Amino acid sequence: MSALEETTLTPDVKWWQSAVIYEVYPRSFADGDGDGVGDLAGLTARLPYIASLGVDGIWMTPFQPSPQVDQGYDVSDYCGVDPLFGTMEQFDTLLAEAHALGLRVLLDVVPNHCSSAHPLFQAALAAGPGSPERDMFHFVPGPVDMSDGGGLGTGVADLDDVPPNNWQSVFGGRAWSRANPDSARDRDWYLHLFSPEQPDWNWRNPAVGDYFDGVLRFWFDKGVDGLRIDVAHALFKADGLPDSPSAGGVVDGLRSNPQVSDQEEVHEVYRRWRTLAEKYEPHRLLVGEVNLEPARAARYTRADEMQQAFAFAFVKLGWDPAAWAAVGNELEAARQLHGATPTWALENHDIVRSVTRFGGGDVGALRARAALVALLGLPGPAYIYQGQELGLPEVEVPLESRVDPMWARGGVCRDGARVPLPWTGDDALSHGFSLAESVAEPWLPQPAGWGAHAIELQQQNPESSLALVTKALELRRLLWKNEVFGPNDGGTWRVEPGNLLVCERSADFFVAVAMGTEPVRLPAGTVLLSAAPLAADGWLQPNNTVWALRD
Ligand code: NOJ
Repeated sequence: MSALEETTLTPDVKWWQSAVIYEVYPRSFADGDGDGVGDLAGLTARLPYIASLGVDGIWMTPFQPSPQVDQGYDVSDYCGVDPLFGTMEQFDTLLAEAHALGLRVLLDVVPNHCSSAHPLFQAALAAGPGSPERDMFHFVPGPVDMSDGGGLGTGVADLDDVPPNNWQSVFGGRAWSRANPDSARDRDWYLHLFSPEQPDWNWRNPAVGDYFDGVLRFWFDKGVDGLRIDVAHALFKADGLPDSPSAGGVVDGLRSNPQVSDQEEVHEVYRRWRTLAEKYEPHRLLVGEVNLEPARAARYTRADEMQQAFAFAFVKLGWDPAAWAAVGNELEAARQLHGATPTWALENHDIVRSVTRFGGGDVGALRARAALVALLGLPGPAYIYQGQELGLPEVEVPLESRVDPMWARGGVCRDGARVPLPWTGDDALSHGFSLAESVAEPWLPQPAGWGAHAIELQQQNPESSLALVTKALELRRLLWKNEVFGPNDGGTWRVEPGNLLVCERSADFFVAVAMGTEPVRLPAGTVLLSAAPLAADGWLQPNNTVWALRD
C-alpha cells in the first residue's frame, strides 16, 4: 500500500472530504539556494516538517515562469518553472517526495488572466486590431473622431483617454489600458481586472478553453493531485462588456461589479474541468477561489463542478460570535440546497493574519489559536496558511520594502502576511529561512523578534501553537477514522449567553468558542480538546475553544 493510500479513510469518504491542506507560499517558505527567495529545493528539504503536522497535502501558489509583477499571479508560461524557483526536474523531485510522505500536491492555476509577457498576448499586440490573436483577450477599440468622416484619430487627444467602459481594477485604477498608446492607427484598449501586466483572457473564444485543457492535462499527467483556481468566478464577463451599475469600487472591484463576476457561463468551464479531472485515477481535485456570498458560491461545488470552494464569507471574519453564527448558518443553508460542504480557511496570502485581525498581541494570539482549533473541528475540509500554525502576526513591512502591486495601485498591502518563515530562533540572517551557507537578505524583511515564533522553538515546547495544531490534526484524523466525523455532517450554529459560540456538527459532537470577555459555562459534554487549559470548574475562559462529545 502506498503512503497516499494509507491516508485514505474508508472507501466511501473521498480523501478531499476530510482533508486538511497546508498552503505554501513558496517565496516565503524555505530558500534552498540562499538568494533570499524561497524555492522548490527549499520546500522539498522542508517537506518532512509539513508531513509532521499531520496534514493531507499542500497547495503551492504559483512558481511558473512570470515577470513577478504580482508575485507569480502574472504567468507567462503555464507549463514551466520560473528559474527563480528552480527547474522542472526539481519540481518532479518535490512531487515524488511529497507523495512518498503521504502528502498530495495541489498547484495554482490562473485562468482569468496571464502576464502581458505571455507569448499569446505578445502575439496579440503584434497582430493588431481585429486579428484572431487579439480575440484571445478583451481588446476593444476606443472611440474614433468622426469629425473627418471616421478618419484615424487626427487631433483627438481627448478621445485617447476614453476607455470602453467604467470598470475598475481590483488593484486600483481603471481596468483598461491602451494596447499601443503611441499608435494613431491602433485604437484598441485591453482589459485587466488586476494590474495592466495581467491581461484578461476572453473565455468567450473557445480557443481559450482548449488552451487551458492542455494546461490541466500537463500537470495532471505529471501526477499533480489537484488545482486551486484563481478568481474562479470571474472568467466570463457580461456579454457586450456593459458599464457596471456601480462605479466599480477600487479595492473590491470584482464584488462590486456584477458584470465581471459570477456569470452563468462560467459553470460550463468547471463542468468540463471536472470531467477532465475524473479521467484520472485517482480523480484530481478542483478547489475554487470563489469570493461570493455562500448561496452563490455553493453553486460552484454542485456535484458535477468543483469538489471544493473556499468559504469566503468565513475567511475574513473578525472576533464576532454573531457574525460567525450568521455566516455558519448561511453556509449550512447553502450546503443543504446544493450538497456543498464548506471549505474552511481563516488565512491565506492575501489577507491580514488572524492574530492581528482578532486584536493583536497576546489576546490576538490566543484568539487565533482558538479560531484555528474551531476551524479544524468544523464539518468539511480545511486549509491552513503557512505560519498560521505558528501563530504568526501580520508584519508592518517598512514602506521602502513593500512590493505588492496592490499597495502601489490601491493602497492596500498584502506583504505583511507574506514575510519569510522563521525556522530557527537565533539572530542569524533570515532565521533559518535560507538553507544555503551564503545568504542574501530575505525578499521581505523579517521584523525584530521574529525568531521568537520559530518552528524549532515551538517544536520543543508542548504548550506552543504548533504543538496544539499538531494535536488537533491528530485527533481530527482519529475522529474521522472512528466515524465520529463524517462527510455528511452539517453545522448548526448559535450564540449562547456570555457570547459562547456553539457549532453542533452532529448529534454527538460540538465545537464551542468562548468569544466574550467573562468565563462561560460549557454545555454538557465530554471535552476532547481545548485550545487553552480548562479552568478546574469546567468553565471556559475567554478566547478558548473546545471540541466536545455530547454525554
Ligand atoms: C488571487 C490571488 O490569491 C492573489 O494573490 C492575486 O493577486 C489575485 N488573485 C490575482 O491573480
